[in-house]
Amino acid sequence: MPNNTIVPRVPALGIIGCGRMAEAMLARLLAKGLLPDHVWVSARSPQRQQYLAHTYGVRVTTNLEVATAETLLLAVKPQVLADIESELADTPVAQEMGVVLSIMAGIHSGRLRRLFPQRLIFRAMPNTPAQVGAGVIALASDSAASELEIQKIKNLLGVLGQVVAVSEGQMDAVTALSGSGPAFVALIVEALCDAGVAVGLSRSLTQELVYGTIAGTVQLLKERGLHPAQLKDAVASPAGTTIAGLEVLEAAGMRGTLMQTVKAAYERSQALN
Ligand SMILES: NC(=O)c1ccc[n+]([C@@H]2O[C@H](COP(=O)([O-])OP(=O)(O)OC[C@H]3O[C@@H](n4cnc5c(N)ncnc54)[C@H](OP(=O)(O)O)[C@@H]3O)[C@@H](O)[C@H]2O)c1
Repeated sequence: MPNNTIVPRVPALGIIGCGRMAEAMLARLLAKGLLPDHVWVSARSPQRQQYLAHTYGVRVTTNLEVATAETLLLAVKPQVLADIESELADTPVAQEMGVVLSIMAGIHSGRLRRLFPQRLIFRAMPNTPAQVGAGVIALASDSAASELEIQKIKNLLGVLGQVVAVSEGQMDAVTALSGSGPAFVALIVEALCDAGVAVGLSRSLTQELVYGTIAGTVQLLKERGLHPAQLKDAVASPAGTTIAGLEVLEAAGMRGTLMQTVKAAYERSQALN
């Protein structure tokens, strides 16, 4: 499209790269009442474009048109950003006002600000449970944004789960903890399930018990405002089963291992940026 083309109207929300994470957000926003007419999206493959238009009734169009949106969600993979930059740089859309919300891992706001100098830049780091609305989403807001503008972005991201305010400097730590966290938790869940099978329970019963135990433990900690050590001490009776198990975890260096795990992910995130 030539640079001077007049785009007929401006969508409220534009999504460049409507893949898994953006789709989770789109589906929930539409279910909450956002009108499909107010959303323009883009994707790379014709199959994906057709799927999005057919499933959600949103307009699927070029990145250049999508970028006219008042709020522009950037949800391509980080390595694709260079293509988007070449496409949009030095076009009129690069000078539009409004908001850019990036969920791209490891892309600093400074780079986005160079592409969109007139817009407020927000960075968010959702995690995988966001796909079912149960994510934790770290949000680094533009320092020039008003409370109202921040709240608007929180409302958008809120459909993916719990939004937590962070500074951009905390993003590598967030990536290591809540971004990579679901994989660490899944590994622990899998190991506990195998353990249940090892002591004679069926796989399905084991899964039910482990999922319930993890969800219930977190709920109890939150609702009662307990320190984890209080809960642990309450379960571990003298010479009982729990303390026998805890002794094994301590001997195996479980705490240190988990701390090293998150530190390794943090260092990796820093190195990638
Ligand atoms: N998934 C997560 O749990 C998670 C967590 C935190 C952050 N993130 C971040 O979220 C972003 C998206 O992740 P995802 O898992 O949703 O990836 P994804 O499913 O691969 O989505 C990326 C989308 O971008 C589209 N795309 C590729 N090239 C494009 C182009 N030139 N123009 C327009 N669209 C293009 C792809 O289209 P096609 O489908 O046609 O290929 C795809 O739909 C990433 O930056 C990632 O770092 C994801």
